[in-house]
Amino acid sequence: MTRVGIHDLSMATGQHVLDLDELAAFNGTDPGKYHVGLGLDQMSVLAPDEDVVTLAASAALPIVQAHGTERIRTLLVATESGVDASKAVAVWVHRLLGLNPGCRVVELKQACYSATAGLQAALGIVARNPGEQVLLIAADVARYDLDSAAEPTQGAGAVAMLVGADPDLVTIEPVTGVRTADVDDFWRPTDRTTALVDGRLSVSAYVDALTGAWDDFAARGGVPVEQIDRWCYHQPFTRMSVKAHRKLAQHVGAAFSDDDLTDASRYNRRLGNSYTASLYAGLASLLDHDDDLAGRRVALFSYGSGSVGELFTGVVEPGYRSAERAQRHAKALDERKPVDVRRYRDLHTAAVHRSDVDVEVPVASGTPFRFAGVRSGARQYVPGA
Ligand code: HMG
Repeated sequence: MTRVGIHDLSMATGQHVLDLDELAAFNGTDPGKYHVGLGLDQMSVLAPDEDVVTLAASAALPIVQAHGTERIRTLLVATESGVDASKAVAVWVHRLLGLNPGCRVVELKQACYSATAGLQAALGIVARNPGEQVLLIAADVARYDLDSAAEPTQGAGAVAMLVGADPDLVTIEPVTGVRTADVDDFWRPTDRTTALVDGRLSVSAYVDALTGAWDDFAARGGVPVEQIDRWCYHQPFTRMSVKAHRKLAQHVGAAFSDDDLTDASRYNRRLGNSYTASLYAGLASLLDHDDDLAGRRVALFSYGSGSVGELFTGVVEPGYRSAERAQRHAKALDERKPVDVRRYRDLHTAAVHRSDVDVEVPVASGTPFRFAGVRSGARQYVPGA
């Protein structure tokens, strides 16, 4: 059978960063609650000329530059930060990246889960046509109300993956475990720009989805827990993956260590939540930091509120290490420009644009692609300055 999986992967994030010590000082919260209780140190914040389209295109640019566009016949963008109820984010991204007209494009939505649905669809397309590649991008801006309990778990990020046959990074195995349940734990009605959430319910719904997905995985012939070498979870805040890992250990009767999760959460501690991208930012972090992954099996757990969970495994290929990729990711995080709480709050409010007022957004960042404003109701995207 043809091996199919992730051939290359690239992460991007916003141009600004808010240190959670500053938010803690502003709120009068003990910073330990953020660093230890939530497992978060920073959150990415977008500049005024960035949004989910520019994030997605910026993440994918290094992949297109490295591998060309010829074999990409499908572009999937998974997001819950879409900017139009009809037009797919993927259509703008397709133009910005210069992909071929003979390419199907679509946007996928189911909270933080949809990139995994995209990955499964991509694997199916490639298995049927091994000569084709699918460009899959998970991109999101996590936004909650200012001064809410969820505020410190905001963030932003995008991960682009080239899915193909005989992959260089991770071969995805065929067995998956899935669990869907209708739960009102987190949602964003179409008249809101910030999410609504029942925090405690969301944590228990996540854990229920994990154990349910594991049971489905096991029932369908998934490998036993002893044959899994690494774990990578959706990380709305990194402490959530620790809670989940402990619950799964109890559920399957295994002895896991919290240290299992350190390398897969290094980027997430600094990005904050990046919704659809969060699991794959965790995978990027693992691939960039763990130098003993060749031939190892990684379990990935994807969760999207509302809710859908899916657990699946991949085996890391021998040549997975790339100093260039790791340096690019470190640079994206290290070179963000710090903002103070006042500026972050201004940016949070300014991020929303009405469609009935023309606006020109000045150059604010050094990103490869920019949101230039709204003209006659339509959003404008251009190459960066
Ligand atoms: P909260 O009420 O502010 O926090 O909300 P808390 O009081 O529960 O404290 C959090 C932890 O910090 C606790 O630890 C405290 O003990 C600890 P725990 O008991 O949980 O182990 N703590 C401290 N630790 C050290 N030093 C201190 C200190 N003080 C307290 N001084 C909550 C927390 C996560 C609920 C909130 O931030 C929230 O609502 N976030 C958004 C929802 C969320 O992220 N849910 C996660 C599961 S749902 C999901 O993953 C899907 C999602 O990504 C969306 C999608 O699918 O699209 C969100």
